[in-house]
Amino acid sequence: MNGFVYDIPVKVYFGENQLGNLGAELKKFGNRVLLTYGGGSIKKSGLYDSVTDEIRKAGLELFELSGIEPNPRIDSVRKGAQICKDEKIDVLLAVGGGSTIDATKYMAAGACVDHDPWEFFSKWAPIEKALPIVTVLTLSATGSEMDPGGVISNPETKDKIGRLAPQLLPKVSFLDPTLTYSVSEYQTACGAADMMSHIMEVYFNMEQDLYMLDCFMEGLMKTIIKFAPAAMKEPDNYEARANLMWASSWAINGFVNGGKQQEWSCHPMEHEVSAIYDITHGLGLAILTPRWMEYCLDETTASKYYQFGVNVFGIDASLPEMEAAKKSIEMLKEFLYGILGLKSSFEEVGIDDSNFEIMAKKACMGETLEGFKSLKQKDIEEIFKMCLK
Ligand code: NZQ
Ligand code: ZN
Repeated sequence: MNGFVYDIPVKVYFGENQLGNLGAELKKFGNRVLLTYGGGSIKKSGLYDSVTDEIRKAGLELFELSGIEPNPRIDSVRKGAQICKDEKIDVLLAVGGGSTIDATKYMAAGACVDHDPWEFFSKWAPIEKALPIVTVLTLSATGSEMDPGGVISNPETKDKIGRLAPQLLPKVSFLDPTLTYSVSEYQTACGAADMMSHIMEVYFNMEQDLYMLDCFMEGLMKTIIKFAPAAMKEPDNYEARANLMWASSWAINGFVNGGKQQEWSCHPMEHEVSAIYDITHGLGLAILTPRWMEYCLDETTASKYYQFGVNVFGIDASLPEMEAAKKSIEMLKEFLYGILGLKSSFEEVGIDDSNFEIMAKKACMGETLEGFKSLKQKDIEEIFKMCLK
């Protein structure tokens, strides 16, 4: 087992009625606050009023940037970074899902450099500093509220690129499950598929590591499988929303990694799909993940599928290993397409094979994805083809 560093310095306020602490937390970083949000769900839900009231009560000066898109665009980042510079913003407050939080992270970094924020992606410009970020999460999915990552799209170049930097970690995140009561059935399902994938990208690994982390990941996956359908059926089920919310943060905040060092597989592939077709990230993952599992299954990897099937889906442990492995993929498909009701093929979402070559090339950056199984461009093209129907 490899050694590792554990460092997750995000202060979390979890539960109902925590927003009363928002003003005091923001004030620690200064007086000038840039509030960022998406297409208006926070206005409909009344959260916008609650947040702006807290900011005013604390005597802080409020600036705003709205309209951050799902699969957030670099132009929104550019606008936000410019407001930070022009208005000498002290702290950014992202209120929304992963897209709003991700875009805000790069506004905060963009505010501290003279170059175009796209250079963080196109030239891998260093991220040495960022303004402080506070988040109020409204959708359980990406874990951006507690991780150092962010993914930004550039429609001009048809790129969607993610990057990690500790400077981008939120300082404080408010996680109130009641704020996710208004999330649609579809977005709840996509969020669940995304969280499952975050865990599976780490769990599907043949390196020996800590047994406790495998158990922890199995517990997280069982939590998602149990509570996502409950939240879809009953949107204001607090227990379901709370379990999903805390699972979303812990799926990707770094804790489950331990010393495992492999690259992720489905995420780089999915980012190429949503870069071109602008589909919801969780939906893209739901289509890709079972095909990736099918492609990577052989005698050398079957034991991991067996463990997954038995411990997560309760498959009969007395089944032969390969049979149980195949059954585990069927169980995952039933969860994603049957229970969550997500579409199951590229064809159903209007994606054909015309861009597979370039998408596959970009996903492995012309080399190899060193994930659960090493995947070269041709392998990735094959997996895309398997997703067609
Ligand atoms: O924009 P608004 O009006 O707020 O509506 C949003 C949006 O239409 C809506 N929504 C959010 N909270 C709601 C709500 N609707 C009703 N009630 C609420 N409480 O949901 C829609 C989707 O929002 P979005 O923020 O795009 O979803 P998500 O949180 O799934 O974020 C997806 C983005 O995050 C990236 C994805 O690639 C994608 O760009 N990821 C970020 C990661 C990270 N930072 O670590 C990791 C992930 O793997 C992922 O790649
Ligand atoms: Zn994801």
